[in-house]
Amino acid sequence: MLGRLNHVAIAVPDLEAASATYRDDLGADVSAPQALPEHGVTVVFINLGNTKIELLEPLGEKSPIASFLVKNPDGGMHHVCYEVDDILAARDRVTAAGARVLGDGEPRTGAHGKPVLFLHPKDFTGTLVELEEV
Ligand code: CO
Repeated sequence: MLGRLNHVAIAVPDLEAASATYRDDLGADVSAPQALPEHGVTVVFINLGNTKIELLEPLGEKSPIASFLVKNPDGGMHHVCYEVDDILAARDRVTAAGARVLGDGEPRTGAHGKPVLFLHPKDFTGTLVELEEV
């Protein structure tokens, strides 16, 4: 069921500063910022060729990454995103195994315009997992 690593997401307190670090200090290919109000974040993608890094900055009052940044004020690794062929089949498989899907369990449209789901970190070795249908 599990395919390639699509991206690793890093929550940051200052997206412009983090983008500059990757672009200028590391010489990385950094995208323009993209606001995703329905997800409560602004994102930047760093294209690494074999995968991507997603930098996340809180957007709006109820950002899902706000509490993470309170605990990790310098920023930190927030989630990993794996590709799947069929997101509903993937959801049914993990829920049948007893794992929890965050939210109402229905896929939402992610940063790439594809359906995504998030899985509870307590059910996946302490790591928030995003599944993206590709
Ligand atoms: Co993501």
